[in-house]
Amino acid sequence: MKRAAVILAAGMGTRMRSKKIKVLHEVGGRPMVEWSLALADGLGCDKSILVIGTHSEELKQVAANRVGSENIAIQDPPQGTGHAVQSAEQALAGFEGHVVVLYADTPLLPVDAVEKAFASLDAGYAVSVLGFDAAEPGGYGRLICSDEGDLLKIVEAKEASEDELAVRFCNSGVMAVKSEYFFDLLSRVTNDNAKGEYYLTDVVELARQDGLRASAVKCSEEDVLGVNSREQLAEAEKVFQTKTRRKMMENGVTLIDPDTVYFAFDTQIGADVVIEPSVFFGPGVSVAPDTRIKAFSHLENCSVGEECRIGPFARLRPGAVLRTGVRVGNFVEIKNSELGEGVAANHLSYIGDGDVGAKSNIGAGTIFCNYDGYFKHRTIIGEGSFIGSNSSLVAPVTLENGSFVGSGSVVTKDVPEGALAVGRGKQKNIEGWADTYHAEMRRKKQS
Ligand code: UD1
Ligand code: MG
Repeated sequence: MKRAAVILAAGMGTRMRSKKIKVLHEVGGRPMVEWSLALADGLGCDKSILVIGTHSEELKQVAANRVGSENIAIQDPPQGTGHAVQSAEQALAGFEGHVVVLYADTPLLPVDAVEKAFASLDAGYAVSVLGFDAAEPGGYGRLICSDEGDLLKIVEAKEASEDELAVRFCNSGVMAVKSEYFFDLLSRVTNDNAKGEYYLTDVVELARQDGLRASAVKCSEEDVLGVNSREQLAEAEKVFQTKTRRKMMENGVTLIDPDTVYFAFDTQIGADVVIEPSVFFGPGVSVAPDTRIKAFSHLENCSVGEECRIGPFARLRPGAVLRTGVRVGNFVEIKNSELGEGVAANHLSYIGDGDVGAKSNIGAGTIFCNYDGYFKHRTIIGEGSFIGSNSSLVAPVTLENGSFVGSGSVVTKDVPEGALAVGRGKQKNIEGWADTYHAEMRRKKQS
């Protein structure tokens, strides 16, 4: 059976108090709308329609890049969740199969929860709604079920009777419907209600009036945590981090103080990696087995090989590629550079736009001067080279295999294989100068 997702993202998100539209705020380093799109992919949807409003050019751009303009539905102006799905009708024209409605502000929903709703359609139901037992049902729609467990109707809190308000089983908003019925049912939804909106939830009662059956399947409240405010954004982040830390440890990663380590949605860590406290992973990081990431390190879009030692206080920026056995010490920043096997850069360095050959040693305070104010240039260092402390390598520059740079050099010319480069003022010693100087100064101060 073919599947399609209709992802609702037309809300204003005013409670975020942000210039940025709500669904572009990130959880685990990924915009919320991308979480929903990834869920649709994970469900094997053949089509994902994104329903957006007119108020965010940025979202329109993201949507066009991600699903293509033919899969964007503009809801203008937003008149409720039912109206939102209706505006996807044209984009779904000719589609036959199972349609699931997802909210773009509900980033943590797992694939298996939605699978239960699809399974219910396979079992003969026309409509299936994902519900949860709410700790505080408040403003959620209530799922009213028969004794046999069929879903009879969804009542919005504003329209609910006292008895109905006492029901804790609530609507998550996720609804799977067979396409053959969906748009016909939606066309009969009215806005004759407390909010004057077209409620998607009315589809359930309308289906039953047609003699069709509806079901409610259960997931956890955590799975359907919706984000409307910065506080809820932080809550979602916390849930994501807690789950990810647990998963990492299950996979054989040691976290000395799990609560202080932050992962992104796509962080990949190999077995027997040890992560010390207060380490932050931005998106796009992979760490191979048996490496140790020491405390207070920050990594994003980089790859770390096996048996490396990183940090404490290391910063690995986009494009840092570290091969096996690399050592990166405190206050070392690496960007868009490859460090070959066994390279050591142990203290206080900036390595930007460079290639460092295997077994080379980068001394304390080495700076790759990669930027001339207009363009970035590369620094190439061959294998087995030794860069003395406090050296500046002014790119573009190539140091061939086995180069040796004297401490404190400013290297502006290429260095041939096996050569010593010294680029600094020559030292001269003046015998007795210090003694004469002190005697003269003391005399002056006393007179
Ligand atoms: C909705 C459900 C309610 C459920 C709750 C779960 C209805 C009528 N009610 O209520 O039963 O318990 O979600 O959180 O469906 N949106 C649009 N266009 C619109 C309106 C909304 O795209 O015109 C999007 C919003 O951006 C949001 C989602 O749909 O992502 C839900 O809208 P919201 O207004 O928050 O619905 P609730 O009133 O919370
Ligand atoms: Mg809501």
